[in-house]
Amino acid sequence: MQTAKSHQNGLFPKITTIFVAFLVIGVVSYAGYLYISDQDSNYNDQIATISRQIAVKSAESAREAKRKEPVYITLPGAKTIRAIVEDYSTDNSTWALVSKTHAISVDYAPSDLKIPDVATRTDKSDAERSVRSIIEKPLINLFSAASNAGYQLMIGSGYRSAVLQKVYFDSLAASVGDPAANQAIARPGQSEHQTGLAVDLSTIARNCYLDNCFAQTGDGMWLVNNAYKYGFTLRYPSGKELITGYQYESWHFRYVGVDLATALHDSGLTLDDAWTYLVKADATLRQNGAI
Ligand code: DAL
Ligand code: ZN
Repeated sequence: MQTAKSHQNGLFPKITTIFVAFLVIGVVSYAGYLYISDQDSNYNDQIATISRQIAVKSAESAREAKRKEPVYITLPGAKTIRAIVEDYSTDNSTWALVSKTHAISVDYAPSDLKIPDVATRTDKSDAERSVRSIIEKPLINLFSAASNAGYQLMIGSGYRSAVLQKVYFDSLAASVGDPAANQAIARPGQSEHQTGLAVDLSTIARNCYLDNCFAQTGDGMWLVNNAYKYGFTLRYPSGKELITGYQYESWHFRYVGVDLATALHDSGLTLDDAWTYLVKADATLRQNGAI
């Protein structure tokens, strides 16, 4: 009896110990499983976050690369040039087309007007002697190259507000009539002078002032052959009257930068002719997110 009891007393603790051991193993395993699963899911979350970040970054760099992608323009007969990154349809663009069919706002005035450090007509107002500051350096280079060739140039008229343009138009229309004035002077909002990027050039002595005999002066001939090298295009050439809408003006030069002025010179196109090429480049720049 005593032996059986001892046996019973000895077996019970063993079973209990085994049970507890299994319970502990079970609990520890389950806790381990939970821990590993948690670690796994943290790890997966981190991988997903990093992948998302990589995708966002590479989309950003692809967009950035597209924004910076050069856009080219080839005018017939001219070397390919790189399109400047500007929206050419804005009033202050260096390549804005201002004409009878492309008016700018009559309220537009460039914010960077200044009297350039070259000869200007001192009997004109400070405003009309001014141009956009971005063309001061090109004007200095142009005037200095002309001077080296023996020609002293002068700006006869630079920036003109729409109000001043109206004064000029009305005054000419009063003497020659509206249709004739319309061939010579732009109506308010239609003049390149309002952009501050156009200048009427003259000899310092003002012989042949705003007259096409200027084209026969040494200064006039030098300008026709060289102005483009400094970024200025002869805007209203002879033979292009139907395209530009204006009579020949051997004195009116418009700054568009050396590349485009050279391409216009080499192709024989006016800015009006080249506009379709520029519009295409503008659309590509917009598509690329550059403007
Ligand atoms: N003479 C040019 C066309 C102007 O008035 O702007
Ligand atoms: Zn002019």
